[in-house]
Amino acid sequence: MAFVETHNLTKKYGNLVAVNNLNLRLDEGDILGFIGPNGAGKTTTIRILATLLEPTSGTATIAGHDVVKEPEAVRRIIGYMPDFFGVYDDVKVWEYLDFFACAYRVPRSERAKLIDDVLALTDLSHKKDDYVEALSRGMKQRLCLAKTLLHNPQVLLLDEPASGLDPRARIEIKELLKELRNMGKTILISSHILPELADICNKIAIIERGELLISGEIDTIMRQLTGSHVLEIKVADDEEAAVQVLQNQLEDIREVRVEDGVIRAHYVGPPGEHYRVVWALAEKRVKVLSFAEQPTDLEDIFMRVTQGVVQ
Ligand SMILES: Nc1ncnc2c1ncn2[C@@H]1O[C@H](COP(=O)(O)OP(=O)(O)OP(=O)(O)O)[C@@H](O)[C@H]1O
Ligand SMILES: [Mg+2]
Repeated sequence: MAFVETHNLTKKYGNLVAVNNLNLRLDEGDILGFIGPNGAGKTTTIRILATLLEPTSGTATIAGHDVVKEPEAVRRIIGYMPDFFGVYDDVKVWEYLDFFACAYRVPRSERAKLIDDVLALTDLSHKKDDYVEALSRGMKQRLCLAKTLLHNPQVLLLDEPASGLDPRARIEIKELLKELRNMGKTILISSHILPELADICNKIAIIERGELLISGEIDTIMRQLTGSHVLEIKVADDEEAAVQVLQNQLEDIREVRVEDGVIRAHYVGPPGEHYRVVWALAEKRVKVLSFAEQPTDLEDIFMRVTQGVVQ
């Protein structure tokens, strides 16, 4: 049985369909990257899973508990990190955590140790007595994550935990997520940026305008989508001749472009046989200086998948 599952989940705001028949599935220990542009419906979906918003139709369950019918049971299992960190004046880091630990009904005798533990995990121990408002944005994000870990939830719902962070802070958040993954947590994490999540997620779901475009194991999706490869070719002179060969003599080549002295061509032929392109070029005495297959990264996939819908 799936650990987190939505079935035809739909949310309408008046006429606007924010989430449209969404089917997501996470097994225990999965890290799902939930990717989509602004307004795609990510926050709406996550808030429904977090029991903060009711769906218009469809269902969502976490560990077998329906989010609408058994919100209390769901809340015990999940840790929800919103996309916006609230304002906390005159509150120290430990007080902030103590407040939420209280709210989670952690016994007083256990609270101090628990707070130390989550602070250590999020690398904030040295900020324990600082005021929350005086933390940097990255530290606030980590504090927010520390808060969601207080009741040791099995499932984490993280709404863009790395947004607005500098590259270093992003890496720190990523390291933290890896640690949580190693602790066996099931994590749903949203982002606009696919490459950011590529190396921590084992599954991805791409959503646009409320519709799921693609979902599943990252490796499978990669294989599905990497039917075409971009070849980068540099020649000593006469790019035009090379382009002619590519466009006219080869069946497996599409979209030939020249940019900054580099010829880029989409190869759609059998995998591992693009040496034929070099042969064809050599046959016409084209002076090939370099020939490389560009790695098709996830960002590229994302662009292709979303563009397909827009067009
Ligand atoms: N309370 C609301 N009332 C009306 N429309 C809403 C409400 N909340 C969200 N929407 C609309 O629902 C759609 C999905 O919004 P949502 O916040 O879920 O997107 P998102 O994927 O999280 O976007 P972002 O990347 O900007 O955070 C948007 O068109 C948004 O304008
Ligand atoms: Mg959002």
